[in-house]
Amino acid sequence: MSEHTSTSTADTTDSDRDDRHRVADADELPEGDRIVTAIDGREIAVFHTNGEYHALSNYCPHQGGPACEGLLSGTLAVDGDDELIWERDGGIVACPWHGWEFDVTDGRHTASDKYRLPVYEAYVEDGTVYVEF
Ligand code: FES
Repeated sequence: MSEHTSTSTADTTDSDRDDRHRVADADELPEGDRIVTAIDGREIAVFHTNGEYHALSNYCPHQGGPACEGLLSGTLAVDGDDELIWERDGGIVACPWHGWEFDVTDGRHTASDKYRLPVYEAYVEDGTVYVEF
């Protein structure tokens, strides 16, 4: 997975729909990459991974670190035979400050349901990446 993190400011001038915000052209967000952007005072990361787009808050619930700017990878789990397995490759981001891991598909911490990053709808339409909230 790419370790590149782009930072931009989203264009909020799309007047067709009040709840959607242009993030980037789709070709600016290739598979395995992410863009961190500011929209209406919120710092949001948009991921393109495993063929899907996901948008999450970039504010870590641990100590406020940039949760979505760390390693995008997978995580270790234990299977039914008590063996360690690697799973969710490309679907887990680790906060760069202390390593808390979050599932980019739903924002959940990998070890505790108590912690979660807010998620937003993200999609591509006519070659443009949007988020809605
Ligand atoms: S601030 Fe994110 S893991 Fe500590």
